[in-house]
Amino acid sequence: MNIILLGPPGAGKGTQAARLQAARGMIQMSTGDMLREARASGSPIGLKVKAVMDAGELVSDAIVTALIGERLDATGDRGVIFDGFPRTKHQAEALDMLLGERGRSLDHVIELEVDEDELVRRITGRFSCARCGSGYHDAFRPTKVAGVCDACGSTEFTRRPDDNEQTVRTRMAEYRAKTAPILPYYRERGLVRPVDGMASIEVVAAEIDAVLDGTVV
Ligand code: AP5
Ligand code: MG
Ligand code: ZN
Repeated sequence: MNIILLGPPGAGKGTQAARLQAARGMIQMSTGDMLREARASGSPIGLKVKAVMDAGELVSDAIVTALIGERLDATGDRGVIFDGFPRTKHQAEALDMLLGERGRSLDHVIELEVDEDELVRRITGRFSCARCGSGYHDAFRPTKVAGVCDACGSTEFTRRPDDNEQTVRTRMAEYRAKTAPILPYYRERGLVRPVDGMASIEVVAAEIDAVLDGTVV
């Protein structure tokens, strides 16, 4: 099964994709994570995308599509969760081609709907473990023991440079202008499953499970 998690910045794509990867043996493909890895490694692509990401704008279609293409071949027959990709009509068409060439197709496009004020609260409170990458939130998902990662015990955490209120507004504007318009492309094919992303992490997870298990009424 191959699915897309589609939604604005802070909607919960990464949180839900990581859970699905752990629970179902699917593979999370986050173009945001791939680009942050490229930055951290100082690779030519990383240097190129740094300023664009820090401004909250979209990286070029060619770069992100190439990143996805490279990784698709290594997934074997495991299902993929696309997290933060596609984000433009061009990327959506490229994904159809990449999947088609490999005899694969999309099963569901999960649309996570969340209010803008809530998105800002989520993004400005987000942090993650510097060692294992586990994601947290100051108020909504704190570590069980203050200052210690639940998953690996590390005491070092990081915050994303693009997680400030001003950049978040640009990221939301990019979402509205370029990403939300791809929904009709998938709606026409009957693939879109709206999920109320305002609910708690556990309730959103249960709703997504119901879609994947075909138990949605
Ligand atoms: P990317 O990394 O994809 O960022 P984004 O889309 O802005 O989304 P986020 O990762 O901020 O949010 P999320 O939906 O994953 O939320 P999360 O689960 O963390 O992209 C970053 C940049 O890279 C882009 O701006 C662009 O420059 C570039 N880029 C990436 N992909 C690209 C592409 N395809 N094309 C072009 N450019 C690209 O949750 C947020 C917080 O809320 C967490 O703290 C979490 O604990 C908490 N939370 C989650 N769910 C809930 C809930 N239900 N209730 C309460 N709290 C919750
Ligand atoms: Mg994310
Ligand atoms: Zn950790």
